[in-house]
Amino acid sequence: MKTICMIGVGYVGLVTGACLADLGNHVVCLNRSKEKAENLKKGIMPIYEPGLEEVVRRNYKAGRLDFTTSYQDAIGEAELVFIAVGTPSGVDGEADLKHVQDAAENVARAMDHPLIIVNKSTVPIGTGDWVANIVEKNKNADVAFSVVSNPEFLREGSAVYDFMNPDRVVLGSLDRQAAEAVAQLYFPLQCLPGHPHLFHQ
Ligand SMILES: NC(=O)c1ccc[n+]([C@@H]2O[C@H](COP(=O)([O-])OP(=O)(O)OC[C@H]3O[C@@H](n4cnc5c(N)ncnc54)[C@H](O)[C@@H]3O)[C@@H](O)[C@H]2O)c1
Repeated sequence: MKTICMIGVGYVGLVTGACLADLGNHVVCLNRSKEKAENLKKGIMPIYEPGLEEVVRRNYKAGRLDFTTSYQDAIGEAELVFIAVGTPSGVDGEADLKHVQDAAENVARAMDHPLIIVNKSTVPIGTGDWVANIVEKNKNADVAFSVVSNPEFLREGSAVYDFMNPDRVVLGSLDRQAAEAVAQLYFPLQCLPGHPHLFHQ
């Protein structure tokens, strides 16, 4: 059981956060809208995904899932922080990383204990190092952190099913131990049972 902060409550963040809570982890989801956070506590979803409302309600009631707009509260005791914010396409079709940057800066300012920062948003190659630099520059406390890439492949319309039945989980990091800590979250899903393939430099 891990303590997790999930930044972003869209298709990826809310589904991943709620499903990780359903696997027994303690998850706090952060977003910028107080109204969205309060609605989620009441079981009102910002998006429609089959099965999602039930998973959110069940885990909120069980105390494994919560919602906040405060980085301090969300990072609190977290061991892992997932960045699952939107990366809209820019004018040339490239991913606009301004929300990822905002999330990384806020995590850096709020963190006061070692963290594994997991990037779930769809981002270009090299973004792991870029996020690590942002966190290094903005952190207030002298705490260690690692960055892990864990891109998402769920499909809108079957996102909960896809999370619970992955045909692959992709992880990348310069820190093998951090990548393995993230891999452990997915072990109950029996993806590639007994045959984890970990690639590292
Ligand atoms: N939707 C999909 O099917 C899908 C599949 C695979 C990967 N992805 C990728 O996952 C990422 C998230 O996609 P999505 O569909 O969940 O997006 P979304 O627009 O549904 O949700 C994004 C969430 O991020 C929040 N957010 C934005 N900026 C923030 C900030 N600075 N701080 C805190 N919260 C912030 C928004 O409020 C929203 O809750 C994107 O990079 C996307 O390309 C999406």
